[in-house]
Amino acid sequence: GSAAGLPSSVSPALSFQVTARCSTTKARVSRLVLPHSTVDTPVFMPVGTQGTMKGLTSEQVESLGCQLILGNTYHLGTRPGPALLQQLGGLHKFMNWNRSLLTDSGGFQMVSLLALAEITEEGVRFQSPHDGSMLMLTPEKSMELQNVIGADIMMQLDDVVSSLISGPRVVEAMHRSIRWLDRCIEAHSAPHKQSLFAIIQGGLDNNLRTQCVAEMVKRDLPGYAIGGLSGGEQKDPFWRVVDHCTNLLPENKPRYLMGVGYAVDLVVCSALGVDMFDCVFPTRTARFGTALVFEGSLPLKHRKYANDFAPIEADCTCSTCQNYTRAYLHSIVTREEVSCHLVSIHNIAFQMRLMRGIRQAIELDQFPAFVHRFFAAQFPDRN
Ligand code: GUN
Ligand code: ZN
Repeated sequence: GSAAGLPSSVSPALSFQVTARCSTTKARVSRLVLPHSTVDTPVFMPVGTQGTMKGLTSEQVESLGCQLILGNTYHLGTRPGPALLQQLGGLHKFMNWNRSLLTDSGGFQMVSLLALAEITEEGVRFQSPHDGSMLMLTPEKSMELQNVIGADIMMQLDDVVSSLISGPRVVEAMHRSIRWLDRCIEAHSAPHKQSLFAIIQGGLDNNLRTQCVAEMVKRDLPGYAIGGLSGGEQKDPFWRVVDHCTNLLPENKPRYLMGVGYAVDLVVCSALGVDMFDCVFPTRTARFGTALVFEGSLPLKHRKYANDFAPIEADCTCSTCQNYTRAYLHSIVTREEVSCHLVSIHNIAFQMRLMRGIRQAIELDQFPAFVHRFFAAQFPDRN
């Protein structure tokens, strides 16, 4: 249909056009044009940590239909390191990934991975996992690293606290994230080539979220993320915060919900108007031998798959489902390497197929029926 009248935003490094809307929920389909590729949203971004996708090559990720993947500044900043990346002309070339790339700023990974990280107004101080020396990640340093990495989308350095706490530390983190955003904007050396996204913080407190959105939207960034969630909180407060934030965020800018990738959350949060998601879950769970399916998941280590000669999913077109049975995968699943690879391929294909299903349903204005079918498949006992 015609996109006339639908919100859009255009800048040299990012254009965003809503192309279809659901008439009963806040779900929308958009076309996000980045320097390295066009991305159809709602989109799921698989996560590569050390410049790889954990068991998949860039070619395989591309052939699975991924248009945008996520890399982490924290890992890339230490190895291969900024000098080598600069020499190589950025991460796209280094990892042979020709489509779009988004980098997270690094602070969240350090705080969540390293118990020793210390947060001050200056930045995040942490001990190098490689040689034990003390390093400091400031908003300026994160921007410098992300400018060298050359991702299409860069995330601000933010102060992230657990979604399970409340009180003054949550208020401080929200205000500090706004101050760090200003330092990131100031330090960003290539806004014509790389788009900087702000990250809304404020825990599970809708008043804090409102204040944070108001301040960050004033900065008129090319996109906004919702951070500080998916940290073990209940679904109800989690979804309420997402709903609240998408009500306040501009219609004509992409909205990215960080660290979220369970199928149920992808469907619900697409309905709430989120455009972008990332999560390590599909590849992490594959490493433990669990395959994702529309009915939930298959723990392939279980004895019941020993004589099951069906593919993981009959209607999946991925190379694993085309060529291997559950019984075969069961028999090799404890011998890690290859099974991890085969299940990862399927799990990424599953996420891509789910997102394609969401987009097609929105385009046909049949999204509520899609949600109903999806929940009936995931929770058959509740019907
Ligand atoms: N990944 C998941 N949640 C977050 C967050 O709140 N901030 C950042 N920077 N990355 C995240
Ligand atoms: Zn498959």
